[in-house]
Amino acid sequence: VAFEDPGYSVTVSNAAARAGISAVPVPVDESGVDVSALSASGARAVVLTPAHQWPTGVVLSPQRRLQLAEWAAGCDGTIIEDDYDAEFRYDREPVGAFQGLAPDRVAAIGTVSKSLAPALRLGWVVCPPGLAPLVVEEKALHDRGSPVIDQLAFATLVQSGRFDRHLRRMRASYGRRRAALVDALAAHAPKVSLTGLAAGFHAVAHLPGEVAEQAVIAAARERSVGLYGMSEQRADRSLSPSQLVLGFGNLSERAIASGIASVGDLLRG
Ligand SMILES: Cc1ncc(COP(=O)(O)O)c(C=O)c1O
Repeated sequence: VAFEDPGYSVTVSNAAARAGISAVPVPVDESGVDVSALSASGARAVVLTPAHQWPTGVVLSPQRRLQLAEWAAGCDGTIIEDDYDAEFRYDREPVGAFQGLAPDRVAAIGTVSKSLAPALRLGWVVCPPGLAPLVVEEKALHDRGSPVIDQLAFATLVQSGRFDRHLRRMRASYGRRRAALVDALAAHAPKVSLTGLAAGFHAVAHLPGEVAEQAVIAAARERSVGLYGMSEQRADRSLSPSQLVLGFGNLSERAIASGIASVGDLLRG
């Protein structure tokens, strides 16, 4: 099984190891996963985040989507589409699920971890019919099923329209936090550019060439500001350019502004 690099590598690798499968990294560029590298890897399955790639935030391009569908058809491959945060999209209309392009090849995974709370442990899989009995069997072996009362409560939330209202309200609220991050960086470290902001709760900050990622993280920690580096998300950490993955989902606008203000000199270099 292949996974995106940078990406959700530890989770995918651990899950693959449990299943006795080897996991291989495949590079991501500004159009999403590199499908030629995927073909060359020999993998027969791939775990992807097409709507908002974790952690770069890029959207899988239409051309790559077609190439992926061809790849899967050509090698009897399976694509696991991890749609983890795309309910929160700010700059454009929602990106269509890749699953619609190749429903016989894609298992689409959704979660309420971002839209409601990770503690609920509710999610779903839309998979090719042939895989459904196997997925059901694995799920039963893993945990004998998710809590039914929680699922019914979630169904009521969706059917009543309140889930949609919640998403609309939270989108505006996260949008304000996102704006606070953009404004704070423009004010305190204008040379730092941000990408990957179209959806979700994180952005990639590209640090000026002379600023070393790990040194900034260590110095920020001394000032009680938690920063996270892109290199942690890469298969080969030594190749990483100096970048930070900045989360703004669970911080107030004031905390974002004061956090960036107190590390601005580090980010400026
Ligand atoms: C890339 C990615 N996939 C999936 C998830 C959601 O995982 P779960 O639904 O198990 O909480 C997350 C949550 O942070 C994530 O970052």
